[in-house]
Amino acid sequence: MSVPSTAPPCRDTATPGTRPPLHDGGDYRDVVGLAALPTSIPLVRAFARAKLSAWGLDADHGWDCQQVLSELVTNAFDVTGELLPDDLVALDELAVILIQLRISAKHLIVEVRDSGAGRPQIPDTGLNDEGGRGLRLATMLAGAWGWYPVTTPKQGKVVWASWALDRKAAS
Ligand SMILES: Nc1ncnc2c1ncn2[C@@H]1O[C@H](COP(=O)(O)OP(=O)(O)O)[C@@H](O)[C@H]1O
Ligand SMILES: [Mg+2]
Repeated sequence: MSVPSTAPPCRDTATPGTRPPLHDGGDYRDVVGLAALPTSIPLVRAFARAKLSAWGLDADHGWDCQQVLSELVTNAFDVTGELLPDDLVALDELAVILIQLRISAKHLIVEVRDSGAGRPQIPDTGLNDEGGRGLRLATMLAGAWGWYPVTTPKQGKVVWASWALDRKAAS
C-alpha cells in the first residue's frame, strides 16, 4: 500500500483520492492478505483484536476499529468475492483482500485494499433502509475515512479509516 500524503477532513462522502493521515513515525504496522470469502470477516476481526491488544491500544478504539474493519472487509468481499461452496472455488480465481493496520502515537489507521470495480459511496437512503449502513457506521465510529484508487500491480482501491490517538510513541 502506498505511503499516505495528506490529512483528510472528516465527511460523509469521501472524495476519491483522499489519503489517510501522514505517517508520523514510531509505529507498529502489520499486513494480512485474506481470500475474498465470507469466513474472512471473522478472521480479520480476530487479527485486529490480537494485534491492537498486543500494541497496547485501548479497548474502545480496538472495538470501534473491529466494527469498521468488518464493514470495509464485507464491502471488499461484496465487490470481489465468491459465494460458492468451498469445494467449488477455483483457487487461482480467488480474489485476495489486503488489510493493513498501523498505529503510532497520533493515529490508528486501517486500510483495506481490493481489486473490485465501483467506488465506496454512502447511498442517499434513510437510516432505516437496508443498504448504506456500513460506511455510515464508519463515519460514526472512525475519526475520518476515505479511499483512493490504485493501479499497480493491479487496478483496485484502498478504503481507509483513521482515528486520532494520544499515546506515547512506541520505542
Ligand atoms: N470497496 C468497495 N468497492 C466498491 N464499491 C464499494 C466499496 N465499498 C462500498 N462500496 C459502495 O458503496 C455502497 C455503500 O456501502 P455500505 O455503506 O457498506 O452499504 P452496503 O454495503 O449495505 O450497500 C455499496 O453499496 C457499494 O456500492
Ligand atoms: Mg457494506
